[in-house]
Amino acid sequence: MISRSAIDLIGNTPLVTLDRLHSGPGQLLAKCEFMQPGGSVKDRAALQIINDAYDDKRLVKGRPVVEMTSGNMGAGLAVVCNVTGNPFVAVMSKGNSPARVKMLESLGAEVVLTSQVDGSPGMVTGKDIEVATEEAIRISKEKDAFYVDQFNNESSLRAHELGTGPEIWEEVGNELDCFVAAVGSGGTFLGTSKYLKNRKAGLYCAAVEPEGTQVLSGKPITDPRHVIQGIGYSLVPPHWDPKLCDETVAVTDDEAIRYRSLLAEKESLLVGYSAAANVCASVKLMNSGKFGKYPMVVTILCDTGLKY
Ligand SMILES: Cc1ncc(COP(=O)(O)O)c(C=O)c1O
Repeated sequence: MISRSAIDLIGNTPLVTLDRLHSGPGQLLAKCEFMQPGGSVKDRAALQIINDAYDDKRLVKGRPVVEMTSGNMGAGLAVVCNVTGNPFVAVMSKGNSPARVKMLESLGAEVVLTSQVDGSPGMVTGKDIEVATEEAIRISKEKDAFYVDQFNNESSLRAHELGTGPEIWEEVGNELDCFVAAVGSGGTFLGTSKYLKNRKAGLYCAAVEPEGTQVLSGKPITDPRHVIQGIGYSLVPPHWDPKLCDETVAVTDDEAIRYRSLLAEKESLLVGYSAAANVCASVKLMNSGKFGKYPMVVTILCDTGLKY
């Protein structure tokens, strides 16, 4: 198959069994979102957002695009904007890994870094994100740019309702018992769960949160700092729909670190902390026995471990 551009390499990611990490009972499958050109699940949202903005003329060739990003949405937007011919400015908290800044700059994006408020390097909090967001809005006004606004942009949910959900259903169909995904903007969890629940009434969808900042389960924030970059910003995403979420599962830093090593060493899958948190949460759910003896669970390997 010959693709016309890197954009055509977005989506249609494979599922891989994690039998070496979880030998059963049941089957744990993971969607390899890290295999996309920007190295993460966010490529899908980036493409849908830019396509939708072109469709209704909010964006034209040459107009700058600006977004606040932990790095993954930025990489996706850099990939897409290079192909569509739009200059891209990424505004990031300094707490995100330097590897992400390097990747964005290598893809030709302009990167603006903002200071941390209460986070620390490798640990980005909701307040750090607020500062980066304000700066992104300021720059987008200054440049008369298209401001992506991923947390409020419905195209990001649509990307998963039109892509991730149908792709999973096509592979596993009615056998599926449970879908598990970590929540940043919520696009992956909400869009995929919406599609899958429409296909199978009673399908169980579980959202993953870092322990200490479990706002989706309504718990008080005890520690906003954690290693699971890209999720757990101590805020309920604007499009959050509790009807789509049957359970929230908390994962500690230690668990995410341990599962990241297990994935690399047992499955040869070098992925990031949110992917590891997803797999850890899936194993917890499978071991709980709530899906019977042979549950089938699908989760998301959100990004490549090379970004850390
Ligand atoms: C590494 C990583 N994992 C998970 C997510 C969560 O994805 P979503 O914004 O679709 O909830 C993100 C979002 O940026 C991310 O960067």
